[in-house]
Amino acid sequence: MTETAIAASGLRKTYGDKVVLDGIDLTVPSGTVFSLLGPNGAGKTTTVNVLTTLLRADGGTARVAGHDIESEAKAVRAAIGVTGQFSAVDELLTGQENLQLMMDLSRAPVRGGKRIVAELLERFELADAAHRPAATYSGGMRRKLDLAMTLVGNPRIIFLDEPTTGLDPRSRRTMWSIIRDLVAEGVTIFLTTQYLEEADQLADRVAVLDQARLVAEGTPDELKRRIPGTHVRLVFTTAAELDAAARILTDSTRDEEALALRVPSDGGTRSVRTLLDRLDEYSLGAEEFSVHTPDLDDVFLALTGHTVSGSEVAA
Ligand SMILES: Nc1ncnc2c1ncn2[C@@H]1O[C@H](COP(=O)(O)OP(=O)(O)O)[C@@H](O)[C@H]1O
Ligand SMILES: [Mg+2]
Repeated sequence: MTETAIAASGLRKTYGDKVVLDGIDLTVPSGTVFSLLGPNGAGKTTTVNVLTTLLRADGGTARVAGHDIESEAKAVRAAIGVTGQFSAVDELLTGQENLQLMMDLSRAPVRGGKRIVAELLERFELADAAHRPAATYSGGMRRKLDLAMTLVGNPRIIFLDEPTTGLDPRSRRTMWSIIRDLVAEGVTIFLTTQYLEEADQLADRVAVLDQARLVAEGTPDELKRRIPGTHVRLVFTTAAELDAAARILTDSTRDEEALALRVPSDGGTRSVRTLLDRLDEYSLGAEEFSVHTPDLDDVFLALTGHTVSGSEVAA
């Protein structure tokens, strides 16, 4: 697929003297998933709002579905679906009524609207709850309803702003599988997230946004190669034990201050058992043991030298 769904160049946005977007360039080929990864306050929602014409940029240009966001905002809006960070669901209406409302509001009311609503409720596993007020829905159900409402107009480009933040792991997985189904139908997805794992699971390309700038861009694998992988962390009680363990586990990295060793590992039971057996052979025991999967903090530390909270890390 060579067609471009979203192309932005030099997008800028400031609020007063605070620069929120400082020259954002990005390209999203049609039919792919692009993930904008960044912590709270990085500028993710602002980027989404600018690209979806909800907010005017102060500088730069972008085309979405081939239309200019500034001069052809209406055409852009007709081509896209947006599920915002904060739900568009009306709590007082039932799931079915929320969807029907979207159907009635949609630009070109379609025949068979009732059937489409029923199909969406079925597809999002909301049929049983269809006649209950949305106020009674769980967080996961609400997000699903929100996304179903976005799909009413059958958009080919969908913006999802933190679709799984605050969801339990099971609802998160359901959401991922819904997103994968959309991609399989050829829909282009622009997804923001705070979770490295989510970007890794879903995205063809990931851009890391930090304090108004893109600090890295690539496939999830390319990004992960730049950060420390999954590892086991062992904490010892004495420097002598740390020394001894470091001599045995030769590919480990040591943290003198914390008396800790970082040992590359896939975290699976087999490799963990081998590791512990090895320590046992030398009668070494660790006081603390943890398996560490890289997260957003690791990405930021590796790419920017600071953690998500923004505190500088001594080199
Ligand atoms: N309307 C606004 N007025 C002033 N500052 C804003 C406004 N909207 C967002 N900001 C600031 O812009 C920065 C980026 O916000 P946002 O795009 O919402 O980040 P994210 O979605 O990544 O959490 C934040 O520091 C936020 O406080
Ligand atoms: Mg946001």
